[in-house]
Amino acid sequence: MPSLVNTEIEAAVKGFLIDQEKMTEVVERMTKEIKMGLAKDTHSRAVIKCFVSHVQDLPTGKERGKYLALDLGGSTFRVLLVNLLSESDVEIVSKSFNFPVTLMSGSGKALFDFLAECLSEFCHYHGLENESLPLGFTFSFPVQQQGLSKGILVAWTKGFSCEGVVGKNVVTLLQEAIDRRGDMKVNTVAILNDTVGTLMSCAYYHPNCRIGLIVGTGSNACYVEKTVNAECFEGYQTSPKPSMIINCEWGAFGDNGVLEFVRTTYDKIVDKVTPNPGKQTFEKCISGMYMGELVRLVVMDMVGRDLMFHGTTSERMQERWSFKSSYISDIESDAPGEYRSCNKVLSELGIVGCQEPDKEALRFICEAVSSRSAKLCACGLVTIINKMNINEVVIGIDGSVYRFHPKYHDMLQFHMKKLLKPSVKFELVVSEDGSGRGAALVAATAVQGKAKL
Ligand code: GLC
Repeated sequence: MPSLVNTEIEAAVKGFLIDQEKMTEVVERMTKEIKMGLAKDTHSRAVIKCFVSHVQDLPTGKERGKYLALDLGGSTFRVLLVNLLSESDVEIVSKSFNFPVTLMSGSGKALFDFLAECLSEFCHYHGLENESLPLGFTFSFPVQQQGLSKGILVAWTKGFSCEGVVGKNVVTLLQEAIDRRGDMKVNTVAILNDTVGTLMSCAYYHPNCRIGLIVGTGSNACYVEKTVNAECFEGYQTSPKPSMIINCEWGAFGDNGVLEFVRTTYDKIVDKVTPNPGKQTFEKCISGMYMGELVRLVVMDMVGRDLMFHGTTSERMQERWSFKSSYISDIESDAPGEYRSCNKVLSELGIVGCQEPDKEALRFICEAVSSRSAKLCACGLVTIINKMNINEVVIGIDGSVYRFHPKYHDMLQFHMKKLLKPSVKFELVVSEDGSGRGAALVAATAVQGKAKL
C-alpha cells in the first residue's frame, strides 16, 4: 500500500528513528554510566546514581501481617491497607485521592500535611485509628537512602517542585505530619521506590524476577546486584546477605550530554518548558509525562508548515501538554485504515474536518515517538541484563505506557531480543500492586529486621 504520509512529514520525524547501531551505542554508554553510579570513587559525579535501596531480601512467601502503604509519585496518590494472610491470600483495600496540582509546586509542609490528612481519612473510614500499623511509603523520586527508613530527596522529578524537601529525610517529614495530627498510631518503617515495589511484588509470584521497570508518568528501573558491587552501601564487603536491590534512577541518563545523538529539536523544546530543564534526559525521551507533548510539538510544526490539518488547528491543541500520552495509545489501537479512536481524540482536541492523510500522519507521528521510547527502554533493560551477566530473568513491569499502549510490550520484546545474546531468556511480566503488596513486603522486611536486633 502506498504510504499516505507526506515525505516532508516523514523527514520531520526522522530524528526519532534510531537504528540498531545507535541502540548498541546507547547500551555501551549506559553500561559505563551504571558502573560509575555503583562505584564509590565515581558515584558523586555519576548521572545514573544507582542508589542502594537497602532491600536485600526477595520475598519468601512467609511474610505475614497487616501494613499500611502510601503511594506518591505517579499520576494518582493512593493509600492502601495490605493484609498478607498466607502465601496465596493477600487482601488489599485501597483508595485513590484526587491530588491537587497546586500541591506539586507548593510548600513541602502542605504536601506532607495533605498525605497525612488522606491517610487519616482512610484509617478512620476503616476503623484503624487505634491500631499500631507499620507503613511502607512508596515515594517515587530520586532518594539517597541511608537505611530502610531513612531517605534524603536528591531532586524532584516528573513536574514536582515543592519547597523545603530536597536535602531532607522524607520519612521524617511524613512521620512529623502524621504525628502533628495526633489522630493515628501509624509508624513509617520503610521508604521505597516504585521500581522496587514492582520488583518485590512480581518476585512474590515469579521467583526468577530480578528487575523492576516502570514506564508510566516517569521511567526507571531497579535490579538485584551483588552486595559486593554496591560500593556505596557501607556494609558492601561485610554484609552476610549476597544481594542488594539497586534503584538505578536511569531517567537521568544523558544529563551529561551523552544522549544528544538520539535527541531531536522537539525534545529540546519539551525540556525547556519543564520545571527541571537539563535533567532527566532519558526519561523525557521515554515516559508518559512527555510523549504526548512531543507528538503535539511535531504536529504543531507540521501545521505551521501547512502539511497537516490545512494549516489550522484548535485552541486546545495549541495549549501546552493538551495532548495526553494516553491519546497515543488510543490512536495506535485503531486497526490499519480505521480511525475510531483517532476520531475521538481529534474531537476531544476540538480538531474538525480532518481527512484520512491527516489521520495517517498523526498515527505516524505517534508511532515514531512511542517506538523510540520502547527502543530506549529495551536498551536500558539490555544494559542491566548484561551487567548482571545472567542467562534467565523475569522483568516485572508497571506503568500506564506499558500497560495501555497496544504495541509496547511487543516492541520492547522485539528490540531486546535483537540486542541480547541469543542464549539469554527473559520474560516481561506485568507486575500488579507494586505499591500495595510490594510496599508491604518491604515494610515486612523492615519490621522483621528490627525484631531481630
Ligand atoms: C522518576 C523518578 C523515579 C521513579 C520513576 C518512575 O524517574 O525519579 O524515582 O521510579 O519516575 O515513577
